[in-house]
Amino acid sequence: MKNQSSNTVFDVDTIRKDFPILSRTVNGKPLIYLDNAATSQTPQQVVDVIVDYYSNYNANIHRGVHSLSQEATDKYENARRTIQQHFNAAHAHEIIFTSGTTHSINLVANGFASLLNANDTILVSALEHHSNIVPWQMLCEKTKATLKVIPMTSEGDLDMKVYDELLLLKPKLVFVNHISNALGTINPIEEMIQKAHHVGAAILIDGAQACPHIKPDVQKLDVDFYVTSGHKMCGPTGVGMLYAKESWLHKLPPYQGGGEMIAEVTFEKTTYAGLPHKFEAGTPNICGGIAFGAAIDYMNSIGFEAIAAYEHELLEYATEKMNTIEGMRIYGPKTNKTSVISFNIEGVHAYDLGTIVDKLGIAIRTGQHCAQPIMDFFKISGTARASFSFYNTKKEIDTLVEGLEKAAMMLR
Ligand code: ALA
Repeated sequence: MKNQSSNTVFDVDTIRKDFPILSRTVNGKPLIYLDNAATSQTPQQVVDVIVDYYSNYNANIHRGVHSLSQEATDKYENARRTIQQHFNAAHAHEIIFTSGTTHSINLVANGFASLLNANDTILVSALEHHSNIVPWQMLCEKTKATLKVIPMTSEGDLDMKVYDELLLLKPKLVFVNHISNALGTINPIEEMIQKAHHVGAAILIDGAQACPHIKPDVQKLDVDFYVTSGHKMCGPTGVGMLYAKESWLHKLPPYQGGGEMIAEVTFEKTTYAGLPHKFEAGTPNICGGIAFGAAIDYMNSIGFEAIAAYEHELLEYATEKMNTIEGMRIYGPKTNKTSVISFNIEGVHAYDLGTIVDKLGIAIRTGQHCAQPIMDFFKISGTARASFSFYNTKKEIDTLVEGLEKAAMMLR
């Protein structure tokens, strides 16, 4: 299948050859991997970078005068620059390496403990993953600030009228995901950022589900904090990033103390290192950071316009096919969503569906997707979720639909 974008030819059969895992079998059947919202698969180009690191230049960074340490440091800092350029941050030191989105959010929430008090309000959206709820609840426990929720509509969009009303409370901070992991909703973050700034609030965007599909421009968005994980976008697990405007990184205190984040240490007083090191205590995930940069290079070599167009085609195809299954209910918006289908089939438990299609080699996720408030809103215990990536095919979707039909017949 070929898709033409501005300057990239999209050829899924060729792209699939980059992913060794896609040619394995599971339970005797060819693997059909449709759990991309949980984690993406890793192309050989990124695996090679990981092997090269441990085979050829594994050393601690920023510490040694020896050549190996210099080499590893250069590659790690080059990866930071790759990430900076990808997100169009103004400075490389505005990119903080973390272990992933959860770490990035906790870093910011911890920093705000010194900036909030009992009179302050902060706003969370009803569409959040637990990782963008719990750290803020912990912050409110510490500071006695109040957490208010921007509600969702029955279609699975945010209620922007209520957002406008909540902004009248003059919140200090708003945090919302760019795209919902449970429903695929693309939130109107440009409008939300602009409105938050209008009342003097800072805003954090959780981009974990957006970055596999979209290339955000943090300067154009004028966002204060943008966070994501490497493993959602063809990189390894255990590495991610926090983008923050330089002014915020100066305002926030360090998250963890230790080596690397200091300028000078005596028993009387410690002074902190400059950016970005102030927020990077200890030996980081060096190989992970370098491989994250390689994953971004890989995705850019395919092209985000081409990826988005192809995934949209898969989403439309899958939605139409899946809607032909008797008793199918798909949750979330019909348009303005990314390639995630969260669903239930009447009379069938999502867990049983997931277990049966796994026997056919098909990987989907079932349960609450770390977003219990969304499940509570729909008064359900969970959903089955198929999430598509640029290396999936329409043929795989056909096999999923056949598998779901077979499972539903067995289970009803
Ligand atoms: N946040 C990941 C998901 O949605 C784990 O599955």
